[in-house]
Amino acid sequence: MRRTPCLLLKTLPLLCLFALAACGQKDEINPAASIRHPIAKKADTTQATQVDRKHDEASYAEPARVRTTHLMLDLTVDFDKKQLAGTATLDVNWYDDNASDLVLDTSDLNITQIEGGDGTGDWKPLTYTLAPADPVLGSKLTIHMPTPGKAGHMRQVRITYSTSPQASGLQWLSGAQTQSGQPFMFSQSEAIHARSWIPLQDTPGVRFSWTANIHVPKDTTAVMSADYGDPENLQTATTYQFNMPQMVPSYLLAIAVGDLKFKRISDRSGVWAEPGMVAKAAAEFADTEKMIETAEALYGPYRWGRYDILVLPPSFPIGGMENPKLTFATPTVIVGDKSLVSLVAHELSHSWSGNLVTNASWKDIWLNEGMTTYVQGRITEALYGADVAEMERQIDQQELMTEIKDGDIKPAVQVLALPPVPPGTSPDDEMSDIAYTKGAWFMQFLEQRFGRAVFDPFLRSYFDNFAFQSITTDDFEKYLRANLLPKNPKAVTDAELHTWIHEPGIPSFATPAHSARFDAVDAARKAWLDGGALPGTEVTGKWVTQEWVHFLEGMPAALSPDRMAALDKAYHFTGTPNDEIGQRWYPLAVASDYKDARPQMAQFLQSIGRQKLIMPTYAALAKTQEGLAFAKDVFAKAKPGYHPITVASVQALLDKAKPAN
Ligand code: BES
Ligand code: ZN
Repeated sequence: MRRTPCLLLKTLPLLCLFALAACGQKDEINPAASIRHPIAKKADTTQATQVDRKHDEASYAEPARVRTTHLMLDLTVDFDKKQLAGTATLDVNWYDDNASDLVLDTSDLNITQIEGGDGTGDWKPLTYTLAPADPVLGSKLTIHMPTPGKAGHMRQVRITYSTSPQASGLQWLSGAQTQSGQPFMFSQSEAIHARSWIPLQDTPGVRFSWTANIHVPKDTTAVMSADYGDPENLQTATTYQFNMPQMVPSYLLAIAVGDLKFKRISDRSGVWAEPGMVAKAAAEFADTEKMIETAEALYGPYRWGRYDILVLPPSFPIGGMENPKLTFATPTVIVGDKSLVSLVAHELSHSWSGNLVTNASWKDIWLNEGMTTYVQGRITEALYGADVAEMERQIDQQELMTEIKDGDIKPAVQVLALPPVPPGTSPDDEMSDIAYTKGAWFMQFLEQRFGRAVFDPFLRSYFDNFAFQSITTDDFEKYLRANLLPKNPKAVTDAELHTWIHEPGIPSFATPAHSARFDAVDAARKAWLDGGALPGTEVTGKWVTQEWVHFLEGMPAALSPDRMAALDKAYHFTGTPNDEIGQRWYPLAVASDYKDARPQMAQFLQSIGRQKLIMPTYAALAKTQEGLAFAKDVFAKAKPGYHPITVASVQALLDKAKPAN
């Protein structure tokens, strides 16, 4: 099992853990996978020009020779076999007259037949080679055209296949594991898991439109990241049809099937969830329409028709996924006071940064995640106030600075324009909070230097200019130099730009977020730590999630069990229904040897699968023999309900644990 230094990241451990998942399910170990980049002694100033930033090291596809333009899926969902089975038909355009093969990405697929077509409805069998599986990238599928060169170029290729029950991009839940008692399945394709349920060119540099026919057992509903008619009048059926007319990259393909109900929020938005969850979810996300309007006012029309949110079961391994027209979201943000709905602001923002203008390869993921985190902050500010947006920024920035200080992110990958990963390494390995928090910080820097009156229209024009394209940091930089810098030539220097994009760490000239509301939290915590009373409800009654998070994050590494008991008596942290608070409380309970929290801690670890929330507690437990034994015991019980990638992450953490006593 591969080791990764970012395993213990406090936020978004998912990014590096996806990689572990990929090899966690296979027996082979690729020795190259553990080779890390040598740490750059000084920033390589020529990197941007030396590296082919359009090239995607995480895909076998050859988009310079041939590109998919359209995909047609016809799949049957079989809950007993934990399998999708059917056909994927790709329309392709050839660009290289000498090309004789179509190379696709696959992972764990069982392929039974491949045929070529010319668009007239005639199909003839094609020969193909499925290479042995690489632990990270899966199996390269080479489809041979009937004759070499241009004459043999088929315009259509139809692949008959089925998925493996262990497909890394799918989770299958039995009726016993869902609220409704009905089985449930869902996908998570980003970054390189679409290939585990569809054979395709699995790279963000290739965009295509798609349609799907999905056959499901009766009493279940299928939804996908596509158009599917009016959700308020959708008849339950055994075949559902989907249409994605916009050109999208493969990582945005998504499907979920289960006992799903819909509740409307506005004419163009609503919530899908299991019946017992849908009303609560619609109430929590009631501001969605206002969020869309806020983003539209800043960055131009929402171009995707509907914006719905699917609330997944608690095993969903991440917080949210920006599947077009249908964001996938964890139920852990439904806490009753809308304090965590910036997750919706984030996924919605991807409708501009990411889904409309897409990173051409994972090296430039900051173009997706950093810009989105910036836009998310703008939406949060407009709806809930600058003070709320500032609290969220401060939490993120402090987390990133701690990770940098603790050596969790090596210098070579503290840059926005990431270097290529070495062969055999997953792109997820070198993604971190850098893309999110440094990326957003860079955008705030530009905003501050140029002013919103200049920066907002610039960003809007950037989205318009590159709409439905996949681009690199170089494209962004060129556009910035041509369209923003001339507006005020003195606003930023070349050296400053270079530092943000190509040098490790956070520039010394960056302005950190500073929340006045957190000053009050700091004062209250300090007063107690210095021997005074705990803040009473006249103070904490107004606190939202972020203030509680900050209150706990500022505590010493460990407290005495007595002090933990005092906190618990006052605020009932143990058993909190707010998992963001649980994420901080349970590791503190472990470090403080506060055993009273253990039963509820076990419950917390067993009831949710979102990696960001549970990994810190597993990591804290793994530091002692006794804790590790407890963690292993809990994991054994939790495992059947976890997503494949969460299983792989926890397993890796426990396997590599070296408890101190
Ligand atoms: N697109 C990401 C999730 C992702 C990134 C999956 C990279 C795989 C590889 C999504 O938009 C995201 O950032 N989700 C966050 C939400 C948070 C920042 C509000 C998450 O899941 O924690
Ligand atoms: Zn995101």
